[in-house]
Amino acid sequence: MVKIALLGFGTVGSGVAEVLLENGKLIKSKTGIDFDIKYILDLREFPDHPLGDRIVHDINVILNDPEVSIVVEMMGGVHPAYDFSIAAIKAGKNVVTSNKAVVAAHGPELLKEASERGLRYMFEASVGGGIPIIRPMTDLTAEDEITEIIGILNGTTNYILTAMKDEGTSFEEALATAQWMGYAEADPSADVDGFDSCRKICILAAVAFGNLVSYEDVETVGIRHITVEDIKKAEEKGASIKLIARAVKTDCGKVHISVKPYAVRRNNPLYAISDVFNGILVRGKISGDLMFYGKGAGKLPTAGAVVSDIIDIASRGENQPQQVIWTTDKEMLAPVLPESLVDATFADLGYPVC
Ligand code: NDP
Ligand code: HSE
Repeated sequence: MVKIALLGFGTVGSGVAEVLLENGKLIKSKTGIDFDIKYILDLREFPDHPLGDRIVHDINVILNDPEVSIVVEMMGGVHPAYDFSIAAIKAGKNVVTSNKAVVAAHGPELLKEASERGLRYMFEASVGGGIPIIRPMTDLTAEDEITEIIGILNGTTNYILTAMKDEGTSFEEALATAQWMGYAEADPSADVDGFDSCRKICILAAVAFGNLVSYEDVETVGIRHITVEDIKKAEEKGASIKLIARAVKTDCGKVHISVKPYAVRRNNPLYAISDVFNGILVRGKISGDLMFYGKGAGKLPTAGAVVSDIIDIASRGENQPQQVIWTTDKEMLAPVLPESLVDATFADLGYPVC
């Protein structure tokens, strides 16, 4: 029996409990492993939930229990999520997270601390919601050189842009629906101002190129200023406005990263990615173009990605340290995109082209 603790019992945390309860038999039949959610840390009580008796409010109960081998952080925000994660690793526990804010700010340290202790720090759900992307990309780096990642990485903004385009819904109304659906961050400015996409593309670039740059150094433009009229104008020219995150290797070995809305032409595979879906194109030197597609946010898809990490850790058993270590060299970030790397399938139509 593998005993785990959940930190945060909101949209994703309650989804993880639901997946483990509903699919416990399936997981056991495929992996031979039984999971027990021994503790759930949250600020609130959940008296009516079947796991309501597992709620605790003191992280030390979890840190001091040697039976707990996996801590799953789904609280959001950097503090105390980071503090609890590093403390869990130092207490000898593997950590799984859906929290891209923590991975983008402290990933290198958490990976290193876990690795040095023969533990793992895993973050599949931090990018692309339910899309398996971190694991396939990590595997790809062992056999191929990735040259570019380009994608729609935020479900909330894609949902808003789609609702504005298809229904003529106002920005404010579409955002309110995305919040109600559980897609948006606690502070939705992270979504609409592009910072969530930026953190995610920085994480993907770190997976691909081994170096995490600070998201604060990356040019980031959100979708707040886009109107239904802008979207109509783009449509008349055969394009669709999308919030595009891109990390591309330049000839001098540096990486250019940006997040901006673009008018995406019909001949680009990201044109058709609508609603809460994300699409991620990974370009490898020998693999060519690989396309990853799925729900980028929402309770159960995200919970599924979290559970895949939990199963991965439990299946590998003891002392399987993280192989991946990230550097944090600011010089790796190319300040300007060379003309030769401008993608003609992204039209500017009044929006900035890097
Ligand atoms: P929620 O706000 O729904 O859930 C967070 C939960 O953590 C809440 O129950 C909250 O309690 C609790 N919490 C917050 N701070 C503390 C604390 N200090 N101690 C104990 N409990 C705490 O967020 P989500 O589930 O939507 O998101 C969780 C994480 O997953 C975030 O990092 C998010 O970016 C990420 N994520 C979310 C996705 C989604 O579709 N929602 C998809 C992919 C990733 P309270 O409500 O009382 O504040
Ligand atoms: N708020 C995020 C989004 C959640 O809408 O994509 C998934 O990371």
